[in-house]
Amino acid sequence: MSLKDILSSLLLLPALAAAVNSTVSSSGDSSSKVPRITKQSTDGDRHYVAPYFPLLGFEQYAGNPILSPNPKHNWESAYLYNPTAIVIDDMVMMLYRAQNKTKTSSVGLAWSSNGVNFTRYDKPVLEPTEPYETPGGCEDPRVVRVNGTFYMTYTGYDDTTARLCLATSTDMVHWTKHGPILPNVTDVVYDWQNPLNTYKPRAGWSKSGSILDEPQPDGTYRMLFGDSFLYQVNSTDLVHWNYDQYVLPYASHLNPWEMAIMESGPPAIKTRDGKWLQVYNGVATGLGGFTPSQYSTGQMLIDPVRFPHGPPVARVETPLLQPTSVDEITGQVDHVVFTEGLVQFHGKWFMYFGQGDEFLGVATAPVQP
Ligand SMILES: *[C@@H]1O[C@H](CO)[C@@H](O)[C@H](O)[C@H]1NC(C)=O
Ligand SMILES: *[C@@H]1O[C@H](CO)[C@@H](O)[C@H](O)[C@H]1NC(C)=O
Ligand SMILES: *[C@@H]1O[C@H](CO)[C@@H](O)[C@H](O)[C@H]1NC(C)=O
Ligand SMILES: *[C@@H]1O[C@H](CO)[C@@H](O)[C@H](O)[C@H]1NC(C)=O
Ligand SMILES: *[C@@H]1O[C@H](CO)[C@@H](O)[C@H](O)[C@H]1NC(C)=O
Ligand SMILES: *[C@@H]1O[C@H](CO)[C@@H](O)[C@H](O)[C@H]1NC(C)=O
Repeated sequence: MSLKDILSSLLLLPALAAAVNSTVSSSGDSSSKVPRITKQSTDGDRHYVAPYFPLLGFEQYAGNPILSPNPKHNWESAYLYNPTAIVIDDMVMMLYRAQNKTKTSSVGLAWSSNGVNFTRYDKPVLEPTEPYETPGGCEDPRVVRVNGTFYMTYTGYDDTTARLCLATSTDMVHWTKHGPILPNVTDVVYDWQNPLNTYKPRAGWSKSGSILDEPQPDGTYRMLFGDSFLYQVNSTDLVHWNYDQYVLPYASHLNPWEMAIMESGPPAIKTRDGKWLQVYNGVATGLGGFTPSQYSTGQMLIDPVRFPHGPPVARVETPLLQPTSVDEITGQVDHVVFTEGLVQFHGKWFMYFGQGDEFLGVATAPVQP
């Protein structure tokens, strides 16, 4: 081997490393600039057509994952998943959960003009700063916009207790934290050791807030939340939420694939006939041939006014989405698809979800005629 060959092979090494890095981050360039959003920005698709229940026909995008961890930024270097989305100024704006190698979660921001190719902001927009967010971090964002203000629910996790928190913003970059919003709620947790006993109380634990972005006829806003059953709470300002210590479930387990846990998915969407379509996540116990602890995505129709404590008007018996790809079957957590984003954009529905608590994917469905 000549000296020239040796030198050129050495020179190839960094080129190879760079190629590997660019492969890892190719789906989703980073930018230090963010689209400017103001109170005057428009939301929703220009040709929006409200859905009716059930909204079916979701197919996984062949190019999934559409976003992957980015080794160049510590905060999103290990896992990137659980996205929420909203259409602003004719762009899909996405907030996602990212984790570093010691599993501290932050919330990142990304945007797209076609629903699948996203550019991401190179800094997190929400990071753990409070004791109730340290060291676990800020997890699982869901976002709505009311009167020009964004309301993001997320989970603050101190590695002991998960607490549903709220933050507000007018530009999606600068967020004001309002702290845990259901501090004293007692949820229950499925007892994997003793399925006959089934559920144990879990004090102070709350997660997964799906806000209905319009007030009900009585003037109150509603939110479905929960990490076992779905519960409904109300508010007049979207910041302070009224609840009873032991809330009655709004929706209980019914389908075999949701027997251990139900968690709300994306913010509920108003249907053509004035009810609300709630996409949610369910966890299986093993009943019905579903893998124990498998997360699937389901859908129900709710009418918050007629039934303040449920039950849902209807629900789809089979999951809309189940783990099928390698990234969903083996990941940071195995057998997981977890949906938190649903938007209509340019004539299609885009449903955004986490794959194996590690990657971020999308499924699309046609807009109903
Ligand atoms: C690839 O990414 C790793 C992790 O961020 C970094 O240490 C390394 O320098 C990068 N390599 C190149 C060639 O950019
Ligand atoms: C969009 O992303 C897909 C993969 O998700 C990729 O195949 C395609 O080349 C991307 N298009 C552009 C314009 O970057
Ligand atoms: C992950 O982020 C947290 C919070 O910034 C930090 O304390 C921790 O050291 C980070 N972990 C690694 C492996 O860098
Ligand atoms: C929650 O419980 C604590 C301790 O019992 C109490 O000090 C606090 O006022 C309660 N907060 C609310 C919002 O009910
Ligand atoms: C939004 O504006 C409407 C109309 O002015 C008002 O009734 C409603 O209370 C406002 N909602 C919030 C959360 O500020
Ligand atoms: C709001 O929630 C509180 C606490 O659960 C309940 O007492 C009240 O009746 C609810 N209001 C409405 C309009 O449902």
